[in-house]
Amino acid sequence: MADWRNIMDISAEQPTRCDVIIRGGMVIDGTGAPRRSADVAVSEDRIVAVGELSAIAADHEVLAEGAVVAPGFIDVHTHDDGALLAQPEMTPKISQGVTTVIAGNCGFSLAPLRLRAPLAQEFRYLGEDSDYRFDTMAAYVAAFEAAPPTVNAALLVGHSTLRAATMDDLDRPASDREIASMRALLREAMDSGASGFSTGLEYPTNRAATTAEIVAVAEEMAATGGIYTTHYRDYVYDIDGAMEEAFEIGRRAGVQVHLSHHQLDSVDLHGRADQTLRRIDRARAGQSVSLDVYPYTAGGGAIMEEFVAVAKKVVITRSATRPDCAGRDLSEIARDWGCSPLEAAGRLKPGGAIYFLQDEEDMRRILSYRHTSIGSDSLPFEPIPHPRLWGTFPRVLGHYARDLGLFTMEEAVHRMTGLAAAQFGFVDRGVVRPGAYADLVVFDAERVIDRATYEEPERRSEGIVLVMVNGIPVWRNGMATGERSGRIVRRELRI
Ligand code: ZN
Ligand code: CU
Repeated sequence: MADWRNIMDISAEQPTRCDVIIRGGMVIDGTGAPRRSADVAVSEDRIVAVGELSAIAADHEVLAEGAVVAPGFIDVHTHDDGALLAQPEMTPKISQGVTTVIAGNCGFSLAPLRLRAPLAQEFRYLGEDSDYRFDTMAAYVAAFEAAPPTVNAALLVGHSTLRAATMDDLDRPASDREIASMRALLREAMDSGASGFSTGLEYPTNRAATTAEIVAVAEEMAATGGIYTTHYRDYVYDIDGAMEEAFEIGRRAGVQVHLSHHQLDSVDLHGRADQTLRRIDRARAGQSVSLDVYPYTAGGGAIMEEFVAVAKKVVITRSATRPDCAGRDLSEIARDWGCSPLEAAGRLKPGGAIYFLQDEEDMRRILSYRHTSIGSDSLPFEPIPHPRLWGTFPRVLGHYARDLGLFTMEEAVHRMTGLAAAQFGFVDRGVVRPGAYADLVVFDAERVIDRATYEEPERRSEGIVLVMVNGIPVWRNGMATGERSGRIVRRELRI
């Protein structure tokens, strides 16, 4: 692992005056170190001092007596490309203490979305069909910067997006010419501020890409050090082969591999998390590999028969053909219609669903693994969202760390801050230290908890007191402040 700690070890001279001081809190600094009582001083967009700061005066004082002061959380797996523009308040995220999101995952990004092939239903993850489309990443970044959201964002370029931009038929591997076009688009995006390249190899728009095609596109990033994040080919049957393919792509293309939402999706795989984590350990001995997880046993996405076939339970969240079926259990719909759930799913497409696929014990093992960061994988435009949209981070802190004791609060914070920043190569973020950006969250460690459930998915989490992004308070005492200080964050370090 790279030494991002050294690079951030800028010891600022202690000022006598600053913009904001958060006094009397317990600082959990994001490195995994034990909490300590300290004040945190902020001027402009940076932390300028941490420690006993009674000698420093401030324009604004925040009393954090009894609360934890931590780096703002980094949601490493999102589909927020469209939400960052269409819902710039980003309430589901700032209400959880999230200050940076990584968008463009699972092969789908809003840029460079040049439309040749008709868009598959999965692109709806990013918003309504015609809302936003950007020929280039530079155009997306310009739109973001013209009307910034409350949170920072790092951007990935999706392989399905590149394929849709360059191919007339996505059901086949790309030709050499098409690969060259994709590489040119990826290069433009990296030059304009993107941090990496993503795939979603279970999806019809990406599935026909061969290993060689993915290597050829990803190689474009070898010089710039972009990250390769992958929703790999198979989470249901041959997960070992799918993980090995991801590692092979990383080795051949010379890039870091990040396994998205690592999980085991079929009864046959349940109980095998120890083995898949050992496989990651073995790979890590020879190359850069990281991973994330969401803290739930149900996933969600497009209606796909492949997932219906193996899920214990399926709830329809959206259907273009039968909007009235949103919120209903698929097996009940099938019973009403006198057909199989698979047939009912076929009739309800295109749409969205929540799939109960995983085993709680496996998920806890993956969550407990020391190289796992946290990503919500939430879909911001679903009419009935998965509770992870509003609950992921307080759930890890309150439910899994505090209540179940899966790991310490310091470790939980590290996974969602310092570790995430190291994996994605963000400099001066994910840590509370002089010189770092003032992305900060103040929360009540006794009270912090998710409240969103499958039945009531939009209930806000509790215990998040204050959220600052680049030195500006964006959330205070359960309310947005109206400020929007998010920036594009980019990968600057490779591990
Ligand atoms: Zn995915
Ligand atoms: Cu995803």
